[in-house]
This record gives sequence, structure tokens and C-alpha cells, in this order.
Amino acid sequence: MRTLLKLERVNAGYGAAHILHDLNLTVAPGERVGLIGRNGVGKTTVVNTILGLAGLKSGQVRVGDKTLARPRTYQAAQQGVVVVPQGRRIIANLTVEENLQLGAAVGRKGPWTVPAIYQLFPILQERAHTPGTALSGGQQQMLAVGRALMANPSLILLDEPTEGLAPVIVDQLADIFNQVAAQGTALLLIEQNMSLVARVAERYCAMAKGSVVAQGRVENSREGLKDLEAHVMV
Ligand SMILES: Nc1ncnc2c1ncn2[C@@H]1O[C@H](COP(=O)(O)OP(=O)(O)O)[C@@H](O)[C@H]1O
Ligand SMILES: [Mg+2]
Repeated sequence: MRTLLKLERVNAGYGAAHILHDLNLTVAPGERVGLIGRNGVGKTTVVNTILGLAGLKSGQVRVGDKTLARPRTYQAAQQGVVVVPQGRRIIANLTVEENLQLGAAVGRKGPWTVPAIYQLFPILQERAHTPGTALSGGQQQMLAVGRALMANPSLILLDEPTEGLAPVIVDQLADIFNQVAAQGTALLLIEQNMSLVARVAERYCAMAKGSVVAQGRVENSREGLKDLEAHVMV
């Protein structure tokens, strides 16, 4: 089977801090995978390893058609894998529209353009010429998702996109993620909100102490939700 992302027996960390231990993870084209686990288990470090922001000590990182011996952020984007980082990282002295255009700089050509993003998020068009950081938290998250789409990715890694957002905004984002996935873009959704994972993901990978320790299908039901929550209980 072709994969968009394949991590095999990955060991990675920061300097002497060894965080990921023989971690395995794959995402196939069009798949929606939830990556779950308690705070501090290494979910963001998975993203950082793919981007080259954490050190890969051993194992293989395969992104698109390329095995990356020393992963770099631009390589992932060139292979169609982009990240919506934890904390959103909107550039303060750029307008909403300039933040969107930044997303296109590293990516590929395709159907996602500024007008297409404005159709998905009309509020971003209304605020097009205001500084990105003048937006509310929910609007900034929409901008971060729009910026990622501007790279015309095959796979988007979403690192806790609903952290700190009101339930009504979380519902809007769930709809957006499902719309984006319905157009064929694969998602790796890193989340603490299991009800969101249940609504968006079809498969989950649960992490503990720097490894994927369980995986399975997601059922969007009470039992399915309980299964997911068991993996993030303290
Ligand atoms: N830049 C860093 N330098 C050293 N240790 C880090 C750094 N970033 C994260 N860590 C440590 O790596 C571990 C995993 O963190 P992280 O990947 O952010 O977890 P999660 O995203 O699952 O909450 C934690 O123990 C954290 O303290
Ligand atoms: Mg994190």
C-alpha cells in the first residue's frame, strides 16, 4: 500500500533527551488518523521529528516518495505534508491575507487559492487586511488551517487545533476538517478532545511514553468514545 507518511522504529529527541522510542506510524492517502495520548507522551515531538525540529537518532522517516535521512521542514512541504502547529503561530506583523500567502510559498500548486480559502472561511475575507494576531483564537485557528491548505497538501498534521477554543468553534472546525477530508486530503489529528477525534478520525493511534502502544478503528458512538478516552485517562 502506498503511504503518505511512514515512521518506522523511530528514535528521536532533543539533544540528550531521548523522547520517541521505536515509534511506528503510517498514514495512507485520504486517511483520517487520530493521534492521541496524555500530555507529554511525545505527540508534538512526532511532528517535530518529521519537520527536522527534533533530532532523528535512528529509524526511518518516509514522507511521500522520499526517505528523509535528515528531515527538513521544506522537504515535508514539497512532498505534500504540512503542519498546523500547536499554538497556531500566526505571524503578528502580517495581515490575514499575507499569512495565507505564506502558506503557498513552501507548497505545491493545486486547487487551494486565496479565494478558495475565503469560501471555506468567509470570516477570513472580512478580516483580510487586519493583522493576523488581531483575530480571535478561533479565527486564528481557521487562518492556520487556511495557511496549511494553501500549500495544497496531501496530508495535514493538526497539532491540538482546538486547544483552548469554545465548543461552538470546535464544532465549526470539526465540519471543516470533515469537508477537507472529503476532498481527499489525509489528516493526522493530534487531539485531547476525544469527541472531536470520534467525529473526524476513522482510525486512532494511541501513544504512551514515546511509542504508539495501541491502535484501532474509531467508532463514532458512546462505546467508541469510551475506548478512546481510556487511552488518555490519567
Ligand atoms: N525542546 C525540547 N527540549 C527538551 N525536551 C523537550 C522539548 N520539547 C519537548 N520536550 C519534552 O519531550 C517530552 C514530550 O513532549 P511533547 O512531544 O511536547 O509531548 P505532547 O505533545 O504529547 O504533549 C516532554 O517530556 C517534554 O518535556
Ligand atoms: Mg503537544
